[in-house]
Amino acid sequence: MFSRNSAVSGHPDVARAVVLIGFMGAGKSSVGRALGEQLGWTFEDLDERIERRERRQVPEIFRDSGESGFRRAEHAALRELLKELRAGVERIVALGGGAFVQKHNARLIEAGGVSTVFLDAGVEELWRRCRQQAERQGIERPLLGNLASFRKLYEARRPRYLKASFRQATDGKTVGDIAAEVVQALGLVRRRRRRGEKQ
Ligand code: S3P
Repeated sequence: MFSRNSAVSGHPDVARAVVLIGFMGAGKSSVGRALGEQLGWTFEDLDERIERRERRQVPEIFRDSGESGFRRAEHAALRELLKELRAGVERIVALGGGAFVQKHNARLIEAGGVSTVFLDAGVEELWRRCRQQAERQGIERPLLGNLASFRKLYEARRPRYLKASFRQATDGKTVGDIAAEVVQALGLVRRRRRRGEKQ
């Protein structure tokens, strides 16, 4: 059974699912992957689920259906994911930067009793990481804009991110360090191997 966790909410049960939130460039996917490895939990990126369901890449969804079309697809994918979490598989989930900002999404996550971790960083640092990812890895972010619009969006969203169960500072830290700090702060437990299962 999916338990109503966690160390953060003060509930005695052990956390079974953690959702990472934060602005573009916060490191949600890379920290999520590292957490999955450290804990032996499955990692999932919600944007990838959206792309599979839609059979389109995120920038394409924005281009063809606008931001509102993307948000509808995002909400539907989140609903589906939360249903699966109830089945009890331990999972780390990275959300896109706008997902938790939508009130109905935040309510759904809270109702599921899932711990949320806000990966926090200064706006200049976030901008630098996003620019670097665009140049080096060709990562296209439809809402990247310019530094002024990026900052405005960041400032509008930050109060919502602060509603997460836990805030994790990331500036100047490695992905491995951040993951280790989250494991410790939330008291996350490594998945026990089932009989006959290889490491
Ligand atoms: C978005 C962030 C993106 C992606 C989409 C919208 C946002 O994810 O979900 O482009 O609204 O901030 P990342 O936060 O992983 O870049």
